[in-house]
Amino acid sequence: MSEAVRRVLTGMRTTGALHLGHYVGALTLWLEAQKDPNLECFFLLADLQALTTHADRPELIRDSVRQVTLDWMAVGLEYWKPNVNFVLQSQVPARGMLFHLLSNVVRWSEVERNPTIKEELKSVGGNPSAGFMVYVVDQAADIYMVSPPNKSGNQLLVPVGADQLPHLNDARMWARRFNRDYAPVFRPCEGQVGKVGRLVGTDGDSKMSKSLGNAIMLSDTPEVVTEKVMGMFTDPNRIHRTSPGDPENNPVFTYLDAFDPDPEQIQEFKSIYRAGEINGVSIGDVELKRRLASVLNDFLNPIREKRHEVVRYDLEGILQKGTARANGIANEVLDRAMEAMHLGFKGVNKQ
Ligand code: TRP
Repeated sequence: MSEAVRRVLTGMRTTGALHLGHYVGALTLWLEAQKDPNLECFFLLADLQALTTHADRPELIRDSVRQVTLDWMAVGLEYWKPNVNFVLQSQVPARGMLFHLLSNVVRWSEVERNPTIKEELKSVGGNPSAGFMVYVVDQAADIYMVSPPNKSGNQLLVPVGADQLPHLNDARMWARRFNRDYAPVFRPCEGQVGKVGRLVGTDGDSKMSKSLGNAIMLSDTPEVVTEKVMGMFTDPNRIHRTSPGDPENNPVFTYLDAFDPDPEQIQEFKSIYRAGEINGVSIGDVELKRRLASVLNDFLNPIREKRHEVVRYDLEGILQKGTARANGIANEVLDRAMEAMHLGFKGVNKQ
């Protein structure tokens, strides 16, 4: 009996350098996944998906491919391991063909009702491109381009931030439909979400995002991090350090929960904060922010050092290795899918 095939495919849009939200929401899971040598990981630099919202700034997408690759290496993704592949989305032609095939098993109404798309449409404006509207189908092609055959034991895992779950539900539904209507080509994917699915921005308001100006970047200098933390939103009704506060609605605590190496101490701070004062002990927002600034800088320091080292690496070579591996698998998957859809005219495509 042959061994089960277990793969991970996940990705990020290349629309700029990465921030703490990417780390907490997704990268922690990716770092965990790569540790298992029997789990082959494909980390996708989604430059085509970036184009669906940034077609007016292609040069930014190109530069971001470099930024994101550097960030990935700086946080410790180990591209040199045999089970780890960095894949440049636009350089896998079979993936585009899979999108073409899959788009015919997807109903337009399904594209329109996806809640993440609905949310994103608000910022895209009233006249989204066709590319934007179908990016969830395109993302399903990303995932299934490395699909193992649909046999029990085989796995296709997709570790992501919580906002991606609707996309994965759609992708599962479409794979099942394809398998039912044609042949069991795709292993329906399984999503994985971390304990902090999405990190709130420094404004305490919405999800962390560079374009909203509420993000702490993995590449920010210590001074910038301190400045951003000291300017963070806290409870405006808390005038005195002894006023009872609400730690659940204070993003400083959210970040401490995610990054402070001493969670017991943070629980204690929360109790004091909630009560205002316990046995004459109180805690000020400024104190908490100072602690957070130092916790974040301690966390980011090794990442900064690593980035200094990896900027000298041969990025093209690194992406070439992973992309070649993805192409090899994607070509096979595409052959199976073409056969299943009665499009397997192999003899015709000889050069
Ligand atoms: N949509 C994802 C994001 O915005 C990026 C992405 C592209 C992705 N292709 C993927 C995620 C495939 C998981 C699987 O971050």
